[in-house]
Amino acid sequence: MSSAPNNALPMLIAPSILSADFARLGEEVKTVLAAGADWIHFDAMDNHYVPNLTIGPMVCSAIKPYAGSALIDVHLMVEPVDALVPMFAKAGAGLISFHPEASKHVDRTLQIIRDHGCQAGVVLNPATPLACVEHVLDRLDLLLLMSVNPGFGGQSFIASTLPKLRQARALIDRHARESGQRIRLEVDGGVKLDNIGEIAAAGADTFVAGSAIFGSSDYSATIAQLRSSARRLG
Ligand code: DX5
Ligand code: ZN
Repeated sequence: MSSAPNNALPMLIAPSILSADFARLGEEVKTVLAAGADWIHFDAMDNHYVPNLTIGPMVCSAIKPYAGSALIDVHLMVEPVDALVPMFAKAGAGLISFHPEASKHVDRTLQIIRDHGCQAGVVLNPATPLACVEHVLDRLDLLLLMSVNPGFGGQSFIASTLPKLRQARALIDRHARESGQRIRLEVDGGVKLDNIGEIAAAGADTFVAGSAIFGSSDYSATIAQLRSSARRLG
């Protein structure tokens, strides 16, 4: 994309294990990484912040040995947030992101995440404005834009995410020019082979894909196709 700085971060593919076979989770993690995935995206849901209940620090710890050196990208859809941060850090999370609506003190939560040795991210729902992160950019390693409403895998990409990604890219690039700090721009929800190109063109550099990867019969071919489609337009 023309507004991207020359030092743009390399593209990363982060399969969401929400769509993996939970009865064989360790093996799924190992297989998807061997198939070329960069990160493991880990969706923690609490049936309070979102209407679904998934996995927590114990499962993170259990899959950690199968992830090797790959980063576990923990996406917290829980409320409140702070008490779970040390638990996920101990369980092997490399990056922890959370929704600002779920924390009373966003700046403090970001500090707690970094204090526990993890990279920190904020996640914005489709209707949540970018302005939420304007004053905490210096504390962010990643900004995640939801392209579905959080809670379930297999939903359709919400098109208004594309202009929002372009605005987020401009914000992040301006911040990088002013401070030298580079923040990843991740997108999560409904990312597929037929839309990853335009999502990359809008400025995302980190792509979560759940059903697109785990619903395919050949993880390796799917990840390679996602990468090449993202590169073609990105
Ligand atoms: C939704 C989760 C996503 C989800 C993505 O709340 O945060 O990570 O698993 O799944 P797909 O790629 O199937 O939309
Ligand atoms: Zn997620």
